[in-house]
Amino acid sequence: MAGSHFLYGDKMGFIHIRNVLEGKTEGEKIMLRGWVHRIRKQKKMVFVLLRDPSGVVQTVVKKGVVSEEEYADAEKMLIESLVTLSGTVNADSRAEGGYEVQVDEVKVLHFAEEFPITEHQSTEFLNDNRHLWMRSRKMTNVLKVRDEVFHSAREYLRKKDFYETTSPMFVSTLGEEGADLFEVSYFGRKIFLTQTSQMHLEPQLFAMERVFTLAPSFRAEKSRTRKHLTEYWHLEAEEAWCDHECNLKRQEELISYMCHAVADNRREDLDELGVDPERLYGVKPPFDRMTYTEAIEVCQSAGLKIKWGEDIRTEAEKILTDERDKFLFVECYPKEIKSFYMKNNEADPRTYKNNDLLMPQGFGEVIGGSQREDDASILLQNLERIGDDPAKYKWYIDIRRYGSVEHSGFGVGMDRLITWMLDLEHIRDCVPFPRTVSRVYP
Ligand code: 4AD
Ligand code: MG
Repeated sequence: MAGSHFLYGDKMGFIHIRNVLEGKTEGEKIMLRGWVHRIRKQKKMVFVLLRDPSGVVQTVVKKGVVSEEEYADAEKMLIESLVTLSGTVNADSRAEGGYEVQVDEVKVLHFAEEFPITEHQSTEFLNDNRHLWMRSRKMTNVLKVRDEVFHSAREYLRKKDFYETTSPMFVSTLGEEGADLFEVSYFGRKIFLTQTSQMHLEPQLFAMERVFTLAPSFRAEKSRTRKHLTEYWHLEAEEAWCDHECNLKRQEELISYMCHAVADNRREDLDELGVDPERLYGVKPPFDRMTYTEAIEVCQSAGLKIKWGEDIRTEAEKILTDERDKFLFVECYPKEIKSFYMKNNEADPRTYKNNDLLMPQGFGEVIGGSQREDDASILLQNLERIGDDPAKYKWYIDIRRYGSVEHSGFGVGMDRLITWMLDLEHIRDCVPFPRTVSRVYP
């Protein structure tokens, strides 16, 4: 079991419910604390399903066993009330989870008001009540998987000698396409919320060689799709002495590591969410690969009206990944549809040495990455070609003037990855407080 959350007992003598469910405490007297998940009242007993972060267990409070006052409180309380109790653990095949706690003492620390969330509520209602809905088993399972995904990314990168660092969220230069920028009034000046930490990460590799950030990125995309947030969590890495091939290897190793960590360490959550761990164990290097040019041909022969030079959008992504079980790298996109900072591809000068990583079963893009152009004069030519002002990028070009080193990097959309891992319907389902075009509450 990962972490110390489920260690048997703490200083006050309380244990987590998982210990009971794992059969470690059968026949023993124990103490639990948590929230009332469900409650069922009978004539002389009250069945309380108690919830803590580790699980839900059935407890039974009997008249005559607990004090009269305690019994009256148990009868009175509503779901989400906060309680502590002590009792004896019995195996009971009728109880959810296979165990029941016979309570001998129960204290209600807080009587909850009537909880607004009941069964069969609309998505809209649940989103309005996100601050309460996150107590549900489903959200708890998902958030614990999210924790493992973040943790395992850091663990992998640290093992590979990457340093975790930070980048500013307020920026004055663009990272990706101008159209998707959020403007901020900054003491009267117009600046932006960052779309990527990449450009502030690159200078740092000249100090530390391998660096990464795990931070929000902001996109003012009006897209109301199942995979777009306006604020999402972006894992970005930059690596010196690393070319395009090395970059792809890094990406497939990282993604596989995260998938296996979730399968290894979050088994109960996957079970409760109905996700087969084999879905995640099946993610392993080498990933499938095709060039952008090949991808366009595949889409054309599937009947899609798409020309070389156009971006691979949702429809094309679906054609490429719907029937696929493996992750797919699409490499070497045309210069016209990608950013000026990417390395020229001598093998096909119309293209850069870049890649997207597409997830299977139609989920689509999860990573954008490239080898970076390390020659200052070529960067200037690229800016001139697209008609952008080199003065804005002086600092960025500057880093190529002093010991310029071959390097590559990429950005993982963490929320999209979790959405695929858990086969969720919508990206917001894996975020505690999602931000979309139409939602900034709660
Ligand atoms: O492909 P993108 O735009 O690439 C970059 O920003 C590079 N500068 C990253 C880098 O090389 N350091 O974004 C990277 C990833 C996408 O593949 C996608 O997974 C995710 O970020 N992403 C979004 N996730 C949720 N909602 C959105 N609106 C997203 N836009 C991009
Ligand atoms: Mg992209």
